[in-house]
Amino acid sequence: MSTTIAAPAQATATVDFLPLHGTDYVELYVGNAKQAAHYYKTAFGFQSLAYAGPETGTMDKVSYVIRQNKLTFVLTTALRSGTDISAHVDKHGDGVKFLALKVDDATDAWKQTTMRGGKSYMEPKTLKDANGEIVMSGIHTYGDTVHLFIERKNYNGVFMPGFREWKSVYNPESTGLLYVDHCVGNVGWNQMNPWVKFYEDVMGFRNILSFDDKDISTEYSALMSKVMSNGNGYVKFPINEPAEGKKKSQVEEYLDFYDGEGVQHVAIATANIIETVTELKNRGVEFLSIPEAYYADVLDRVGTIDEDLEPLSKLGILIDRDDEGYLLQIFSKPLQDRPTLFFEIIQRKGAKSFGKGNFKALFEALEREQDARGNL
Ligand code: FE2
Repeated sequence: MSTTIAAPAQATATVDFLPLHGTDYVELYVGNAKQAAHYYKTAFGFQSLAYAGPETGTMDKVSYVIRQNKLTFVLTTALRSGTDISAHVDKHGDGVKFLALKVDDATDAWKQTTMRGGKSYMEPKTLKDANGEIVMSGIHTYGDTVHLFIERKNYNGVFMPGFREWKSVYNPESTGLLYVDHCVGNVGWNQMNPWVKFYEDVMGFRNILSFDDKDISTEYSALMSKVMSNGNGYVKFPINEPAEGKKKSQVEEYLDFYDGEGVQHVAIATANIIETVTELKNRGVEFLSIPEAYYADVLDRVGTIDEDLEPLSKLGILIDRDDEGYLLQIFSKPLQDRPTLFFEIIQRKGAKSFGKGNFKALFEALEREQDARGNL
């Protein structure tokens, strides 16, 4: 089997039992949230939004909420040993704990998903303060990762009850990052299809694209991937599993260092990737470098594009095209010391796909990094 593109959603759509309005926030459990917040603000152009900790009545953890356009990240750390958060950081290093999704009705989202076999993480809970109320609930997904359902239609506060506004004199300028385009999970050997079934059965998602090891392989390693999308396409979760190759695949390296399944990358949209990546590089963000040879014939493959090739090749931005248009994308190096979570920066110009034409060039670049760490 090669790449498969599914029929359009309208063809098979019935009632969407889990209507989602996109990503509400992404929460990372980290070793030092104060320093992580400073790093994400400085390097990526987030601004301070909200804070929770002992000063707001949360005694065992601290959370910093940072925002840029529609992109909200929460960085949480444990204040004491022996907690779930400190255990998570010990096992996984810094990584994504919660992919929180915006819903109209968090109680119904929980009922619909748990009734279909989702394992409850949190029963619907109402949090109140002077600014109104938020209802949240959650279910487990792969590894120790959790999907929270957030209902905030009756809330006017800065983030949610338990948090206070975090006013900082230090608010670096935006780098043009807009919103979460997709979040990719790495799962273990032979676990892709069970998780595809989970997203289909429990969350009503559809498999819109599949890549097998013939699409995604280099001389040394391979992976397989299926892209799951919710009904309106606002939430897309590609799922990767390793495939047999001559050497260790990048997904295996992730699974080793994350000590299990988890979020591999968060893809963030921009409206001007050249400006965004130029600014990110100026602020010290490191990206995978792409061999110059990639640019020698890329336009033969993708056809005419609006941008000049020169800045794209200088920055190492990749280009791919599908039936609906093209896309520009680039991948950061890991965001922490373990070779686990990274960011993708993506600008879509019509294309709805994920850069299949770039996989080979990209994975060869990843393998050079993996080899330098002695893990290939
Ligand atoms: Fe991606």
